[in-house]
Amino acid sequence: MWWKVVAGLLIAIVVGFFALIKSVGITPGIIVHSLTGDGGGTPSQKTVRSRLQVPDGFSVGLYASNVVNARVIMFTRSGDLLVAQPRESTVSLLARDANTDGKADGQRILLDKLYRPTSIDFFEDYLYVSESNAVGRIKFDHESGETIGEYERIITGIADEGNHWTKTIRFGPDGLLYLASGSSCNVCDEIDDQRASITRYNPDGSGEERFATGLRNSVGFDWAPFDNQIYATDNGRDLLGDDYPPCELNKVELGKFYGWPNVNGFGDLDPDFGDESKLIEATSPVHGFRAHNAPLGIRFIDLAAFPKAYRESALAALHGSWNRSSYDGYKVVSLHHKSDGSFEEKDFLTGFEKDGNIIGRPADVTGGPDDCAYISDDFGMAIYRVCYGIEGEAIASTSSSVIQETGLEDFDKATRLNLQSDGEQLFMTRGCLTCHGVSGSTSSGLLPLKAINKRYTLDSLSAFYKTPTPPMPPVHLNEEDQLALSTYLLGIE
Ligand code: HEC
Repeated sequence: MWWKVVAGLLIAIVVGFFALIKSVGITPGIIVHSLTGDGGGTPSQKTVRSRLQVPDGFSVGLYASNVVNARVIMFTRSGDLLVAQPRESTVSLLARDANTDGKADGQRILLDKLYRPTSIDFFEDYLYVSESNAVGRIKFDHESGETIGEYERIITGIADEGNHWTKTIRFGPDGLLYLASGSSCNVCDEIDDQRASITRYNPDGSGEERFATGLRNSVGFDWAPFDNQIYATDNGRDLLGDDYPPCELNKVELGKFYGWPNVNGFGDLDPDFGDESKLIEATSPVHGFRAHNAPLGIRFIDLAAFPKAYRESALAALHGSWNRSSYDGYKVVSLHHKSDGSFEEKDFLTGFEKDGNIIGRPADVTGGPDDCAYISDDFGMAIYRVCYGIEGEAIASTSSSVIQETGLEDFDKATRLNLQSDGEQLFMTRGCLTCHGVSGSTSSGLLPLKAINKRYTLDSLSAFYKTPTPPMPPVHLNEEDQLALSTYLLGIE
């Protein structure tokens, strides 16, 4: 088809353009964001200074900009920061801050051609990666920051259909590999009992054992240094209104059941799948986050430089609501362990959302070798660094808005109208309305799609269909239908 030729030419021009700007030393990241459909780009230094807030005595700075689709982060033993980027199919390495100016000394791709890599961990000589349907590993030299030999998938065929397709892996203090797998749906009885559970394996992928069940979507988990138990975030179900049910922090123990889909929050029967017989069995959370806050990564930080009030505390990234009539979440909170086993939640890094304007969505947190906390943001394509007692050194960012072409410019009006009406049909009949209103039908707290052409192009929408933001399930359409649907979406005001 002629438009494929045009698309090919465009790609050639873009590749040439990138080579050119690279040769003159301009970061290609600014342009990348407008092609990938991530958030509005990394915020400027000015925006970071004026918007982001931390508790007294702390400072926040931008550690790295233009880190596309940054999800799980993990420091190597030499202080380089690895970042899983599911939509890019890559794991990148942000070079350690050798000149101590508070920012990473460069960024490079460490592993590519992965299938939706969502998390990483180290064990012995290996770097482990969870893809949405597999776990793989490759030898890793912490000193040089280079991989050695071939990447090998040691667990394959893990179900990843439907809503919560990410997988999170971590090695426990017992040397076993723990894997969290989210539910395929908002609320349902799963056929594959690995969904909505935490499973553990030997480091070579053998010895699969279901560790705990009834966990709807535990994207983040960590072991507390004070009791060596797993604490896992869990996203509560949708479509029961703005303020119900709570998202959860669960203390996850072997063989226990945590309620989903029958019991919500602290012992409430679910209106659709409630089952009295499960009430006794279901373990309640140790903390309830506000509904739809979407807690993702959690880490017990235990950083020596932090004040005493942060001993026995964790930081958790609240990605933020999507099906709520006003935004909520969009911040990092600290969770302070109390003597009765519960947790007190306090704001730690806020300001990503202000009056409906969003500049970031925290995805993961970790502690750095410099005793500062690091936060990944998959919307602002940024890594933030929060330190105690160090003067704020927010770094100049080169963000600017680039006027983008969506790719629709090449179609004449009649073709566009035809595609749009086919696309509208697809939108109405392919289940999109379960979660999305379009302009004018924004009631019931569903996510209205607005001004898609400000953030997406034909190409970036195609990438989005394959790796959407959970809980949105991947969209399976042939190329022609994809084009029609995208044309429709790009036309929504
Ligand atoms: C199970 C609920 C669900 C279904 C079904 C669903 N989506 Fe989504 N969609 C979401 C969520 C959740 C987001 C991301 C919200 C967020 O960023 O937190 C999203 C985001 C999007 C975005 C990006 C919006 C933006 O402003 O960046 C587009 C475009 C989109 N969906 C299109 C579709 C289309 C087309 C369909 C039908 C084929 C569909 N969605 C079906 C839940 C859903």
